[in-house]
Amino acid sequence: MRSLGYYNGEIGVLEEMRIPMNDRACWFGDGVYDAHLCRNYNIYALDEHIDRFYNSAALIDIRMPMKKESLKKLLMELVRNLDTGDLFVYYQVTRGTADREHTYPDVPANLWVTIRPTELDYEIGPIKLITMEDTRFYHCNIKTLNLLPSVIAAEKAKKEGCEEAVFYRPGGRITECSHSNIHIIKHQTLITAPADNLILPGITRSHLINLCLKNGIAVSEVPYTLDELYSADEVIVTSSSNIFRVVGEIDGMPVGGKAPELISFLAHKMIDEFIQSTDRKSDIYRSGYGYD
Ligand code: PDD
Repeated sequence: MRSLGYYNGEIGVLEEMRIPMNDRACWFGDGVYDAHLCRNYNIYALDEHIDRFYNSAALIDIRMPMKKESLKKLLMELVRNLDTGDLFVYYQVTRGTADREHTYPDVPANLWVTIRPTELDYEIGPIKLITMEDTRFYHCNIKTLNLLPSVIAAEKAKKEGCEEAVFYRPGGRITECSHSNIHIIKHQTLITAPADNLILPGITRSHLINLCLKNGIAVSEVPYTLDELYSADEVIVTSSSNIFRVVGEIDGMPVGGKAPELISFLAHKMIDEFIQSTDRKSDIYRSGYGYD
């Protein structure tokens, strides 16, 4: 198959799938999701994403329609139907199908999966960002379907020729980007916003933190500000889709570029980890990424 859609057990080509209008995703965006890459038919960091998915669902009292192990097995089986093994795997659960009523209906949850081919690239930048006030709510740790502020921010960034929009809260505290986490390097220390309710606890973020700790690079999970972002030695953006990007410009002003060896080390290690854990055919290893 060129793309795949799954809805409560029904499987088809994604573009041909239909869902009921009364699915609460349509009324309220009442659900949570997770998403990540698959390479060579190997789904990357599956356990971690599944754990976060079930945690997001639990945080808004959605009863999962199957156990974690069954969902993992289902995803591993579904990817096998695709014509290529390099894929973006997305899944969401919504609070069932019912007439529009704000309170929770007593109906089973709906499970959706979409799988489509993706071009894996190991570019690390430098990329450009804009900053915007974070007008999202206080549940950013839940990977909810309610993404309107993120969608608006991503579009604004795109219109301005930038890759991402960085959010800051009143007072200038940096939270994250519209669909990625953001970190700075200062004096050889990785500084990243704490995993509280203002950010999504990114899986790639946790891989970056672990990589630093394993290699004797200090990590500080503390709030930092717009001023610290502009004056950082380096700025890094991470997400499951793009893994690791270094930032060269924010709001039209140059940033970072002061710790290139550290950036090169972290970028190579992050990408190597992705490649090694999804490797079946070592000839697929693509060189040519890099900062040096
Ligand atoms: N976005 N912060 C936000 C708001 C996100 O939406 C994402 C992921 C991240 C990075 O998390 P992770 O490293 O686990 O991908 C941080 C995904 C890719 C998306 O919405 O498509």
